[in-house]
Amino acid sequence: MSLLSSRLMAMGESATIAMSQKSRELQAQGLDIVNLSLGEPDFNTPEHIKNAAIKAINDNMTHYPPVPGYPELRKAVCERLKKALNVDYDFSQVVVSAGGKHSLANVVLSIIDRGDEVIVPAPYWVSYVEMVTLAEGKNVIVSAGIDQDFKITPAQLEAAITPKTKMLILNSPSNPTGSMYTAEELEGLAAVLRRHPQVYVLSDEIYDMITYGQEHVSMAQIPDMKDRVILCNGLSKGYAMTGWRVGYIAAPLEIAKACIKLQGQFTSGVNTIAEFASIAALRESDEPSRKMTEQFKARRDMMIELLADVPGLKLRVPPGAFYLFPDVSSYFGKSFGGKTISNSMDLSMYLLTEGHVATVSGSAFGIEGYIRLSYAASEDKLRQAVGNIKRALAQLK
Ligand SMILES: Cc1ncc(COP(=O)(O)O)c(C=O)c1O
Repeated sequence: MSLLSSRLMAMGESATIAMSQKSRELQAQGLDIVNLSLGEPDFNTPEHIKNAAIKAINDNMTHYPPVPGYPELRKAVCERLKKALNVDYDFSQVVVSAGGKHSLANVVLSIIDRGDEVIVPAPYWVSYVEMVTLAEGKNVIVSAGIDQDFKITPAQLEAAITPKTKMLILNSPSNPTGSMYTAEELEGLAAVLRRHPQVYVLSDEIYDMITYGQEHVSMAQIPDMKDRVILCNGLSKGYAMTGWRVGYIAAPLEIAKACIKLQGQFTSGVNTIAEFASIAALRESDEPSRKMTEQFKARRDMMIELLADVPGLKLRVPPGAFYLFPDVSSYFGKSFGGKTISNSMDLSMYLLTEGHVATVSGSAFGIEGYIRLSYAASEDKLRQAVGNIKRALAQLK
């Protein structure tokens, strides 16, 4: 009998571990590594949110919270969803968890049984497939490359659905691509889903506030789909609150209750102080978030401009999130110093060792031929990174 459970053993290790380890080693040697591998805003949490947390401490809001979150916070989530998407939820349908990741894991573990199929469009955020694996579900990967703007088509969805399909995971705006589904595209997918009423949609909308001109839309806005959508969001990205660990779902009541049951046995409610900070974030001014988004947009535009003259790099201008996901496959087969680049992991490692820039290989997101560059870094750092990347790529022959 092995010590570790077969469920755990089936889960993959994070594909970025080798990269971050190497990155730390090089930094320890004194090298100036620019880190474009991070998935978090480099801004600090706005003052009014921090002040709400300080007040919560001084008010002794330090006792056990209700398992699904304080009613005030759940109501604030409903108000925000009404304002942003014009969708109506009762606060009983909202469950607050320790980050969007925890919310997603609760949903997957509450719904997915052994052998249930989950459609995961690739490139995907790394944790979806591991959560499904832990639940003993089967990942059905549907690939969408740069020529389809990294979005799956209704025909692809139809072809992937079987009687065993329980869930489709959608992530718009997307990590790692920044792509966003339009209302028409979601309607196209909904038309397929109407023929398959057993399929639920887990809609990860964690980047909904970080968009550049294109309006964020949700499958939950389609009236006859809403009862099959589990909308997942959180405070990490839009409010620069990654360390506070607050996420939430808004879902059909039965699913919300299931997640509360699971959470009640595993983690209980979220840190009280972070909950009061989150109420302030959701209810008070969005101005700091808008300013952050403006800065992200300026950086995105700068990166697109700086990368425009890199030969062989295929790039789309993403309307959301803070990542670029260029097609780098034209560099495969090229070499430098006796080392040949065969795939995105090789290229990512090469850019780290030769260019001193940390990126993430596309293969980590379930698709080959791309790398992810996060532009959640200062303009100086981004300029330095692109200069280094250009020099390193130019050496490959
Ligand atoms: C697509 C996506 N979903 C969910 C999360 C989880 O965010 P958190 O747990 O910080 O709320 C992330 C974080 O990187 C993400 O990129």
